[in-house]
Amino acid sequence: MLQKEKFELTASTLFGLENVLAEELKALGAEGIETQNRAVKFLSDNELLYKANIQLRTALRILKPIARFKARDQYALYKNIKRIKWEEFLNLHHTFLIKPVVFSPHFRHSKFAAQKTKDAIVDRFREHFNKRPSVALENPDIPINLHIAGDNVTVSLDSSGAPLNQRGYRKSGGDAPLNEVLAAGMIKLSNWDAKSTFIDPMCGSGTLLIEAGMMALNIPPNINRNEFPFMNWQNFDRKLWKELTADVKSNILSAEQVSVKIIGSDINLQQLETTQKNVHKAGLNKLIKLRNKSFSEFVVPASKGKLLFNPPYGQRLRLKQIEAFYAEIGNILKNKWAGFDAWILSCNDFANKSFGLKPAKKIKLLNGQLDCRFLNFPLFEGARKDFLEEKKNKE
Ligand SMILES: C[S@@+](CC[C@H](N)C(=O)[O-])C[C@H]1O[C@@H](n2cnc3c(N)ncnc32)[C@H](O)[C@@H]1O
Repeated sequence: MLQKEKFELTASTLFGLENVLAEELKALGAEGIETQNRAVKFLSDNELLYKANIQLRTALRILKPIARFKARDQYALYKNIKRIKWEEFLNLHHTFLIKPVVFSPHFRHSKFAAQKTKDAIVDRFREHFNKRPSVALENPDIPINLHIAGDNVTVSLDSSGAPLNQRGYRKSGGDAPLNEVLAAGMIKLSNWDAKSTFIDPMCGSGTLLIEAGMMALNIPPNINRNEFPFMNWQNFDRKLWKELTADVKSNILSAEQVSVKIIGSDINLQQLETTQKNVHKAGLNKLIKLRNKSFSEFVVPASKGKLLFNPPYGQRLRLKQIEAFYAEIGNILKNKWAGFDAWILSCNDFANKSFGLKPAKKIKLLNGQLDCRFLNFPLFEGARKDFLEEKKNKE
């Protein structure tokens, strides 16, 4: 049998989700998995590259490194970029764009580094063919990632184009919607089994509910994207792509085939109207039930499961208000939600004590620029002592 060619890929992600992404890659059959800061390296063939782009829930983009070198000034950058055999990766009819990510004292302006990279590519083409490919700022055929950390330069083909968190279901946002990748990562971190009840009582635009719904029905997050830059690569295997997407689609379940309860609620009726549109766009309107209730009025279902939410941030509420609000949330959790496993993304570390509950787990995550904690409060039905005793006996 022909040995499939393996190559290195890097999947980028958000801070704190590296291990979750590594698990996802393992489940897809990836080898040589290595976690890095906000990224996971792995070995791939074309099949896994295509699967990674449509199936990974916690990846932002999938990059294929094509050159690594050291550079401390623009001349070394230009010379090394020009040496790359660009004609193997793009032709004169392709458009391209350099996307720089620069953390370096040697290159203080990322736009300048991108400019020098573009010049080197264009000059190489002019010297070889007397012509050059054009730059496109929007939807380039071949986006190129230029990563400079100190004097280490990595040049990669970006196989994903638009970041993979842009699933296409969020037509309207709301009050600080979560990044879709962060929402999926939170659900994975909570160890939800995709079968038991899932509730977001402050659902905003519905990101957590929709990500949970897609997990429950086995819907790959980017199955509806028809265009990826890897389709412009020389070795794109359209037959393999078609077979693979057909296979993945055949594993999608319908709402009627599952018995999971996914319920969202928000105090703001106007917000819920846009949430409903997002849920509909994601094709999950038969699965996700929405209610217009405040957290205190929410009627707790008998079937236990996960309770996941991110309350409004301190930026929007004043300190005293937030302490009182968190204390109210803590009281409601203690009094009404026994038997549920609650997880709260709190971006107000100073006020976390106000919940009046001791978190069993505290995971650092970043929500945009906000330093947050993902707190786990297992809500026991009896006394905590009995719960711990029972847990110990089960182990
Ligand atoms: C930070 S947003 C949640 C964002 C959401 N996770 C998303 O991805 O769009 C907080 C939401 O909590 C809602 N909210 C605030 N106080 C509430 C309460 N007491 N009960 C229910 N919902 C509340 C707000 O209307 C807002 O939509």
